[in-house]
Amino acid sequence: MEETIGMIKLFLVSGFFILLGSTQAAADGYTTGGGRRLAAAPSLPVPITLITSAVDKGAVCLDGTPPAYHMDPGFGAGKNKWIVNLEGGGWCDSVRVCRYRKASRLGSSNLMDKQMYFEGVLSSNLVKNPDFYNWNRVMIRYCDGASFTGEGYDASNRLYFRGQRIFNASIEHLLSIGMASADQVLLAGGSAGGLAAILQCDHFSAFFAGRRGTTVKCLADAGLFLDAVDISGGRTLRSYYGGIVATHGVAQNLPKSCTGRLDATSCFFPQNIIGSIKTPMFLLNAAYDTWQIHESLAPDAADPRGAWRACKSNRSACDASQMTVLQGFRGQMVSAVQGFSRSKANGLFINSCFTHGQSKYRATWNAKGSPTIQNKGIGKSVGDWYFGRAEVKAIDCPYPCDKTCHNDI
Ligand SMILES: *[C@@H]1O[C@H](CO)[C@@H](O)[C@H](O)[C@H]1NC(C)=O
Ligand SMILES: *[C@@H]1O[C@H](CO)[C@@H](O)[C@H](O)[C@H]1NC(C)=O
Repeated sequence: MEETIGMIKLFLVSGFFILLGSTQAAADGYTTGGGRRLAAAPSLPVPITLITSAVDKGAVCLDGTPPAYHMDPGFGAGKNKWIVNLEGGGWCDSVRVCRYRKASRLGSSNLMDKQMYFEGVLSSNLVKNPDFYNWNRVMIRYCDGASFTGEGYDASNRLYFRGQRIFNASIEHLLSIGMASADQVLLAGGSAGGLAAILQCDHFSAFFAGRRGTTVKCLADAGLFLDAVDISGGRTLRSYYGGIVATHGVAQNLPKSCTGRLDATSCFFPQNIIGSIKTPMFLLNAAYDTWQIHESLAPDAADPRGAWRACKSNRSACDASQMTVLQGFRGQMVSAVQGFSRSKANGLFINSCFTHGQSKYRATWNAKGSPTIQNKGIGKSVGDWYFGRAEVKAIDCPYPCDKTCHNDI
C-alpha cells in the first residue's frame, strides 16, 4: 500500500516536472504553444560536465554513475562570483520507487540531457538578470532522490543513496576550479533543490569558513514545503518525507540543532530549521504553492470523491470552504517564516500566487509583467537582499489581491 502510494507519487511528480519541462522549453523560445512564458531570443545551451573525480569518494547517482553539472563561466566584474544552483525534481521514498528513478535522468547521469538552457537567475543577459548575469553560473544536476542529503547503499538492489557526498564532492570540485577564490557566492535551488538549498546552506558556508572576505548566502525557491494536515485530516507529506528520510539514511546529515530536539522527519521540513540557519537566506515561495496543494494539502488519495479536482486545476472553481482551506495553508506559511523574518540578514518574497518555482523562468524572474510585491519584482528583491541595498521582507496580502501573478492554475 505504502509503495503503491509512492509509485503514484513518482508518477505525479514526474508528470508535474514534464509539465514544467515544456514550460521551460517555452521560456527558451523553442515551442510556440506555451503562451505566457514565450519570449524572444533563446539563450545558448550550456554543456554538461561529469564529475568523474567524485566516483572515488563514493559520490555517485542512484545507479552508480558520476554526478554532473552545467557551468557558464563568469566574466568581467563577475569573474570571482559564483552562483551554485541545485536542480530539483521530486524525491523517491522507498527502494521500489528509487529503482524506477535510477532508470531516469533523475537517477543516472547516463540519461541526463547533455545541454541545458540557463534562464532567470542563471541568465547571462544583463537586461534579464542584471545582478548575476556575469557571475560563474552553475547548475548541479539532481540524481540522488533525497535533496542531496542521503547516505547509504542498498547492495541487493545496487542503489546508491549518496546525496550528501554528491553535494560535498560537487562543491569541492567547484572550489578546485576557481570558486575557492570567490568573493561572493550564492547557493540556490528550486523545489526539491530549494529544499536542498535550505538543508545544505550551512554546510555550503562551512566550505568557506576561514576564507575571510567571501560573502556566502542561500536562496530557496519553492522549497518551503510545509508539514501540513491534508483535507482528510492525515499528514500525506509527513509520511512521504518519513519514507525519504528512512530510505536514504538522511538523519545523520540534517542540522544537529534540529535533530537534537525533534525527530529526523520533522527536521526535513524547512519550518523546523530555518530559524537556526546561520548563513543569510532568502525564501522565495508562492503562498499557494501548486505542488503542495496537489500533493500535500489535497492529494487525490485524500479526496476519493474528487471534490477538490476542479479547484486544484482552476482556482476560480474553488468554493468558499475550499478557499478557506487554501487561505489557512497560506496562513501556515506566513507563520512558519515569522522567526526567520526577524533576522536582518534574511530575505523573503512570499507572493499570493498559484505557482511553483519562479526564479528559473525569464517571465517570472525579471521581465516586463513579472510578479511583484509593492511594485518590486523577484530578481530585484533577491539582488537588493544579496547586495544589502535594501531589506526585503515581502509578504503579499491574501488571494485575490495580487494582480501580477503568473498562475499555473
Ligand atoms: C560535507 O561537508 C560539510 C561541510 O564541510 C561537513 O560538515 C560534512 O561532514 C561533510 N559530509 C560528508 C558526508 O562528507
Ligand atoms: C474555471 O472555473 C470557472 C468557474 O467554475 C469557469 O467559469 C472557468 O471556465 C474555468 N476555467 C477553465 C480554464 O476551466
